[in-house]
Amino acid sequence: MKLNIFANPNLLHEAAAQTIVRLLRQKPDAVLGLATGGTPVGIYEALTAAVRRREVSFARVASFNLDEYVGLPPDHPASYRYYMDQHLFRHIDIPPERTHIPDGCAADLERECERYDRLLQAAGRIDLMLLGLGHNGHIGFNEPGRALHSKTHVAILHPQTREANARFFRTPEEVPTRAITMGLGSIFSARTILLVVKGNDKADIVHRALTGPITTECPASLLQLHPRLVVMLDEGAAARIKCQTTQNAFHEPVDSTNGLW
Ligand code: PGA
Repeated sequence: MKLNIFANPNLLHEAAAQTIVRLLRQKPDAVLGLATGGTPVGIYEALTAAVRRREVSFARVASFNLDEYVGLPPDHPASYRYYMDQHLFRHIDIPPERTHIPDGCAADLERECERYDRLLQAAGRIDLMLLGLGHNGHIGFNEPGRALHSKTHVAILHPQTREANARFFRTPEEVPTRAITMGLGSIFSARTILLVVKGNDKADIVHRALTGPITTECPASLLQLHPRLVVMLDEGAAARIKCQTTQNAFHEPVDSTNGLW
């Protein structure tokens, strides 16, 4: 694990974006796994700026998003297709047909999950999977529980997840109860996983995920097993990790992601 802690969120966004820029410079046809939510917004802004400065091109990239709500059409402002278009895709040069997000309105959700897995398989390995972290330890919509799924599947959203995401809807009742999400197998098959977490409210779950027991009750704890995990935290999210770092030299922080690709 490479652990980077940043003094403020802007530095974190810039560093995460530059990690992706560096990858694309070396591998212009990379396959990216992308995330939504509050965390990546600043990263996508930094990527947009990099494209505008002509530092990088997404023309040959293929992207696969982690998840989509069941029942929300692409033009619903809280759908993840809408989010990705607004925050990234319409500002960069990625061809729309190379951007993939599960269809939450598919008539047959099981078949849609199978279709998504086939697309993932045909694209080859994900080079870099960008992940956020839920307060309950979820990654994508792989929620805590007695078992986890390897493949793309329909997930029932945890009440805590619906509560956290209610800010994107007019009323809490509007938050869908289900979503299609990539499974742990697809996430884990990525060559590199970039886990980005911000805010003091995530300090406890960051600590649990990165230093606690590996358990399906905290899906992100499985990331401890990934051979190329890069963790980027702001000071708030790192609050409990830092204590541990100074006390017993847990996972020595590194300054850069050089040598990753
Ligand atoms: P957030 O969500 O970035 O909106 O905090 C992260 C997540 O739930 O994975």
